[in-house]
Amino acid sequence: MRAYQLTARTGVDALKAVDLPTPKPGRGQVLVKVSACALNYRDLAIATGRYRSPTRANVIPLSDGAGEVIEAGPDVRGVRAGDRVTGCFFQRWQGGEAGPDTQASALGGGVDGMLAEYVVLEEEGLVKTPGHLTDEEAATLPCAALTAWHALVEHGGLTPGKTILVQGTGGVSMFALQFARMAGATVIATSSSDAKLARALALGATHGINYRSTPDWDKAAVELTGGRGVDQVVEVGGPGTFARSLGAIRTGGKISLIGVLSGMAEINPGLILAKRASVQGISVGSTQMFEAMNRAISANGLKPVIDRVFPFARAADAYRHLESAAHFGKIVIAM
Ligand SMILES: NC(=O)c1ccc[n+]([C@@H]2O[C@H](COP(=O)([O-])OP(=O)(O)OC[C@H]3O[C@@H](n4cnc5c(N)ncnc54)[C@H](OP(=O)(O)O)[C@@H]3O)[C@@H](O)[C@H]2O)c1
Repeated sequence: MRAYQLTARTGVDALKAVDLPTPKPGRGQVLVKVSACALNYRDLAIATGRYRSPTRANVIPLSDGAGEVIEAGPDVRGVRAGDRVTGCFFQRWQGGEAGPDTQASALGGGVDGMLAEYVVLEEEGLVKTPGHLTDEEAATLPCAALTAWHALVEHGGLTPGKTILVQGTGGVSMFALQFARMAGATVIATSSSDAKLARALALGATHGINYRSTPDWDKAAVELTGGRGVDQVVEVGGPGTFARSLGAIRTGGKISLIGVLSGMAEINPGLILAKRASVQGISVGSTQMFEAMNRAISANGLKPVIDRVFPFARAADAYRHLESAAHFGKIVIAM
């Protein structure tokens, strides 16, 4: 079968097209024919050696993909050949607390990922694909969408009337915008680009703030809420934006700590105390969270925002497009 492997951690050029034997499903596993994959910032971080968790040598990259079950191994009960399925970021985190082996089961990191014609997935590490989504759309869900869902619904207890601030217009943030709007919340979007802010407003954001031309975007957000502050920040910037996120939330507000796009800086715990803030680290989510999210996606007919679809043969160009940060929403690779 055709696949890609990351042969080094030196950048996108280390992505090599290879021909590998088609894997066989074991007990409790299924063989899936992949029809689409999606990229996340993590995939770039792994390719460039900036990812903190260990990744296997010559890993088949990408956590996100969707396709069709070709063969179910012994003891598989929940799916059968012909079912449309989407892989879960973690192959071993069905529900409840993540286990000690959950991190090592991350696709495209601890275990081989989705950038191949065929993959073997654990039965507990896949979900049925919502009927109204194409495989290209479903492929965008496992990492970015589930992280946004975990942050807003599981951590934030999203309810109508809340005000949510999303940082930038990448994959996680645009799903957070869509989920927040789906639940009747107000969204303040930030971006480095006015053109992207216009698209975020078209997608349902109420307000947009350019964090380049308005570096004190925290004060702008507080003003937009009549001085109260936002209920929750979906924090993808990390240490470089965290202090401003604390400035933007209301007293007792929440910060979902998801990404570290802005590099490293010191965090002052005194600010967390002063705001009586609740700060929660988010690590994607479990299979049960994914199933709950898909029910919400189906009930609301939500469609993921796809920036661009690249053919399999141009996978490296998809990575380069992600690296350019020119995208809005998700970047997909079609098989
Ligand atoms: N913890 C988890 O489970 C988890 C899961 C998914 C992602 N993440 C992390 O979350 C972050 C976002 O991931 P992603 O896949 O959504 O990335 P992405 O699609 O590549 O989004 C990148 C966008 O973030 C915005 N951005 C960059 N620097 C920023 C800053 N200093 N302040 C505000 N916005 C900034 C930019 O938007 P504009 O161009 O609009 O400015 C950029 O286009 C990454 O650090 C990733 O590793 C963590």
